This record gives sequence, C-alpha cells and structure tokens, in this order.
Amino acid sequence: MSLTAQAPSTAPANPSQRVLSGMRPTGALHLGHYHGALKNWVRLQHQHTCFFFVADWHALTTHYAERQAIAQHTTEMVIDWLAAGLDPERCTLFLQSRLPEHAELFTLLAMGTPLGWLERVPTYKDQQEKLKDKDLTTYGFLGYPLLQAADILIYRAHYVPVGEDQASHVELTREAARRFNHLYGRTPDFDTQAQAMLLQVLGPDGAKRFEKNRKKFQQTGDEAAATTTLDFVATHSGFSPEQREHLSGYFKGTGRSLLVEPQVLLTEASKLPGLDGAKMSKSYGNAIALREDPTSVATKVKRMPTDPARVKRTDPGNPERCPVWQFHKVYSSPTTQQWVQAECPKAGIGCLECKQPVIDGILAEQQPMRERAKPYEANPARVRDILMHGSQRAQQVAQATMQDVRQAAGLMR
Ligand code: TRP
Ligand code: SF4
Repeated sequence: MSLTAQAPSTAPANPSQRVLSGMRPTGALHLGHYHGALKNWVRLQHQHTCFFFVADWHALTTHYAERQAIAQHTTEMVIDWLAAGLDPERCTLFLQSRLPEHAELFTLLAMGTPLGWLERVPTYKDQQEKLKDKDLTTYGFLGYPLLQAADILIYRAHYVPVGEDQASHVELTREAARRFNHLYGRTPDFDTQAQAMLLQVLGPDGAKRFEKNRKKFQQTGDEAAATTTLDFVATHSGFSPEQREHLSGYFKGTGRSLLVEPQVLLTEASKLPGLDGAKMSKSYGNAIALREDPTSVATKVKRMPTDPARVKRTDPGNPERCPVWQFHKVYSSPTTQQWVQAECPKAGIGCLECKQPVIDGILAEQQPMRERAKPYEANPARVRDILMHGSQRAQQVAQATMQDVRQAAGLMR
C-alpha cells in the first residue's frame, strides 16, 4: 500500500491515456465534493480521455433495501457534474447499470480471486462497523472492490482519480489484473506468434538479434539489453501497437498484458471543512449544496460558529480557531485574508462583517454552476439522454475488452 500512498495527484497530460472514476449516487453534491473530487475531474477532462460514471450497482451493495432513491439521486448528482463543468463533449459520462459487460468481467475476475483478498480490504470491516444498521455480511458487499476492479479494468484505464479511502481498492484492482494476466495472458501459441511476427517484420537476422537479447535478459536480467531491444520495437513502424505489446510481454516473459494495471491519482482531501469545522457531510448537517439557494447560503454562513473566545464583539479572536477562516483560505483574495489576519486578533471587525466576503465568494463560485444546471433542472430527461449516449460510447470500449477477455479465458467464440 506504500506505493499507492505516494502516488502523484496529477499525471502528465496525454489524451491516449485513459482516466476513469465513479461516484455512488448519493443525491445532490456539496461544496466539499466539489473542492475534493469534482473540480479535479473537470481539470482532467482537458488532459486525458476521461470516463466518469454513476456507480449505481455499488450503491445497491450497501443500500439494497432503498431502491426508491437511486434514480432520483443519479439525476441530482449528474446535474451537479454538469453544473461543475463536466462537458459530455469532452468526456464520457455513463451509468454503470447500463453496462452488463462490467458484471461479466466481475464474474470472470471472481473465479480466480481468493476470498482472503476481499476480506482483507480495510473498507470491508470499516464499513460494516460504520453502517451497523445494515446487514453487510452479503456476497455483494464483499465483492464491492472486485466490482470496482471490473469497472476500471474493462476500460484499460491508466489512471484512477480517487481519495485516500479508495486507494486499497485500486491496489486490489492491480492484483486482480496481474492475476488475470498471469492466468490467461499467455495463450498456448503466444510464443510462436511472437516469433512469427519478428521473422515477418525484421527478417531472420533481426529476429535472431531479438532472440539473443531476450535470452540474455531472461538469464541475466540485463536491463541494457531490454531497453535497447524494447525501444527498437517501440519505434519500429512495422509493428502495430498490439504487436508491440505482444513482443514486450514475450521479451520479458510476462505474457501479454490483457488487462492494464492502473495507477491511482490520489485526490487531495478537500481544504473546505463543513460549517462547524468538521468534515463537510450531508449527514452531519454542516454542508452547503453545490446549487444551494443564495439566501440559504447567506443564512448558513451567518450562523457559522466562530472562535469560541469571541463571545462579545470587543473580544479579540484567533482565525486559526475559527472555521470561517478555513473558508477564507478557499474563497478570499490575499488582501481580504490579510484584513482578517490583522483585524480579528484586535477585535477590529465583527464576525458578521468578516463573513460577508466568504458569502460573496461562495455565491460567485456557484453562479455559473446554477446557470449551467438550469436547462437540466427544467428538463431532467436531458440528463438521462446524456447518460444513455455516454453509456453507448463506453460500451464500445467495454465490448472490445470483453472480446479479448472471453477468448483469453478459453470461452467458445
Ligand atoms: N467506490 C467508489 C466510491 O465510493 C466509487 C467507484 C465505483 C469507483 N467504481 C469505481 C471509483 C471505479 C473509481 C473507479 O467513491
Ligand atoms: Fe472568525 Fe472572522 Fe470572527 Fe475572527 S473575525 S473569529 S476569523 S469570523
């Protein structure tokens, strides 16, 4: 797990590399979701080929008895995605339950996944502890991370932007991919196919040179031989991308990487706490919704607790002990921040006065979001259209992977 803990939160822009992430449909999102995950997704859509989806099956793993809310929550959440600036022209937005291929890959991965792998994922016990009112000793809930692995692997995603709490799921995904590749990546004629390719493209001398370096590498681990040979193959125009991958697996003796091991792009925790200074969460009642009504935003901020030492207007305060200051750090200009830092400790300003720039900042951030949301609020069928259209697009990728996978697993074609 130490590897993922140090993973970068950004990756070099590269549209040929796929990014995939999902959220369970929890209904309307709040500003904590925006400053945590969503803003990052909006940025990534400009740098990579992105797939973002509603993990509605995952919602059922814990909320299987509350089916009435899922569709409504999906609409609300996706309106927030669009409001925040995800653009269906730039990224693919889709609905997990529309893609039976995810379930198919989940089933095939399940065959070779030891129970212990799933029982040891930390979220398994944690969530059972946390959601005590629900019976989570179910087969579906145990399989949660493996279904997530299928979501990721079916798109051969390179990067998965998620928070720290999901890092262990990406780690399991990598293990599942490695195992699957090990079991099925090497077809009986894998080696002969590689040799035929070499002969055809490089001729007998070139093929012989490749063989010599391959033997050297496999016997002595000679990295220089590997680099030279694989660089040569990678840049030789005679090979297709699939052939290059095949040859690289042949050279290293790893077989073909049927499924790609993804990397986590660790999303930094949101710097925006809840109204009371604790983590922002709908269930704590300390949240501001992404599209919250402006008067309600103002009321909520005005009611925010401040430094408890400032009982009277004349009591000096300390911004470090005040949740409003955390909001200034996200929403206010350096000048305003200096003003707070200078005036609060000498009781030069009142707390209501101090809160006004925060209110203004939140409203300014929300204004374009509210605008973008309007057409979808007026006509939620448009949200459905976007998801259905995106699901079709996603399905083309998912089906292509499944064709390889079915064949590799030895199923009849
Ligand atoms: N488990 C994720 C969460 O709770 C949602 C999710 C499901 C997901 N499948 C995924 C995230 C695949 C990233 C990739 O936030
Ligand atoms: Fe908090 Fe501002 Fe009041 Fe100081 S003046 S206690 S920072 S709200």
